[in-house]
Amino acid sequence: MASITLASIVCAATAAQSQTPPSFAPPGWDHGLALAEAHDKNPDSRIVEVDLTARIAEVEVAPGAKVRAWTYDGHIPGPLIRARVGDRVIVHFTNNLPQATTIHWHGVRVPIEMDGVPAISQPEIQSGDTFTYDFVVRDAGLYWYHPHVMSAAQVGFGLYGALLVEDPDEGVGVGDEITIVLSDIGFDRNGVLESPDSGGPAGMVFGREGAYVLVNGKVLPTLGARSGAPQRWRIVNAAKSRHFLLDLDGQPFYVIGADGGLLEKPQSTQSLLITPGERADVIVTPTRPKTGTLTLRSLLYNRGYGSVEFRNVEDLLTIAFTEEPTLPSSKLPAVHRDIVVPDMSDAKTVDVLLTLPPKGAGGKSEFQVNGRPFWKAKPFPARLGEKQIWIVKNESGFAHPFHLHGFFFLPLDEQLQPLRPMSWKDTINVPVDGTVRFLIVFDERPGMWMFHCHILDHAEGGLMGHVHLEPAPSPRPSS
Ligand code: C2O
Ligand code: CU
Repeated sequence: MASITLASIVCAATAAQSQTPPSFAPPGWDHGLALAEAHDKNPDSRIVEVDLTARIAEVEVAPGAKVRAWTYDGHIPGPLIRARVGDRVIVHFTNNLPQATTIHWHGVRVPIEMDGVPAISQPEIQSGDTFTYDFVVRDAGLYWYHPHVMSAAQVGFGLYGALLVEDPDEGVGVGDEITIVLSDIGFDRNGVLESPDSGGPAGMVFGREGAYVLVNGKVLPTLGARSGAPQRWRIVNAAKSRHFLLDLDGQPFYVIGADGGLLEKPQSTQSLLITPGERADVIVTPTRPKTGTLTLRSLLYNRGYGSVEFRNVEDLLTIAFTEEPTLPSSKLPAVHRDIVVPDMSDAKTVDVLLTLPPKGAGGKSEFQVNGRPFWKAKPFPARLGEKQIWIVKNESGFAHPFHLHGFFFLPLDEQLQPLRPMSWKDTINVPVDGTVRFLIVFDERPGMWMFHCHILDHAEGGLMGHVHLEPAPSPRPSS
């Protein structure tokens, strides 16, 4: 069978200028947000080989606010791993946590053995043990890594980091670029982490949020800017439940990319929703207001009861301007990517219904997918190379960022035509009472691939399942 790769349907971004684009940002503009970076110890330019250790460490998220967190290499977020598209990435991982763990490479088209799901991909990595992750990054984009054991607890305790896969030919043409990891964490005055089951069953149903909202591990850090100069922000939401509805005092976000790399063409928006697990690639051109500084905020977003009642808009990031005059506005780059609409005529339709039934006799709340929580569910079947259109309907009263491991999908509208501009996604928000539709193109990698809500409390509360991707039935042997 001919192997089908996404590369055959997704053409590379239009190659453009190879010169380094100019920088306008003031010196040290990103120091308040600088992420620790993983050290590549392999001299081969096409191999990124790093060591990574999960361990408990004291982390200061705001002056005087220290927490004994669970970290990768002592940092929240963990170190940024940088690679170029097509590189081989090798991660020598050591677990020095008091609990077993694994690493899942969110959004990366890895083989199932590297997907980090216990019992399916690998055994859990016990405390004190090591494991080597080794895979090729096929697609440019911003990805991230996090555990897949007790995920709600471990991610909430601080275990997540970004994996940036760059495409040297992409030609976006903005010289000032930064990776932004949004998250939150909960701890008390003594720096002791909030219990992962705080709030009991109601906490599970809502999806627990930490009281400290973090931008690259800091409460309300400052980013430098020259007024009128464009900056490229690569953003990931690594919070275990919190949604971010970003607002820059009404100044537009020029969205050029999503989970799986660039969009077909850019789209401007005044507020940008990034739900847990999702990524956005945006160009912003912060312009100095009369007050002198600008604030990036998260507006209220209704993801179910408790998300907007008695809550306030949250300040995330302060933008401080240099004294230089506002840069005369220049045209934003016409970033473009050829995405060929796959032939959907033979796609199979799969209906997925998300519910939260009233508590039964046992008194236990559980989320269900097609009438069952994950512990009672059978895998969804799929064949290598098959296309499926999933129609995910939400009747549960809470929004769910729906994530599929291992594959990208193309969001569709009510007529089952691609939503424009087209983008490849691996996580998509299914709003309260909403329905989302998307086309999955299964490639040549068989396995048991998970899907789940990326509100990790919801996943553990039942909203999880598997796709069993198997080879196509072999033709009957001719006699
Ligand atoms: Cu980031 Cu199973 O997911
Ligand atoms: Cu959910």
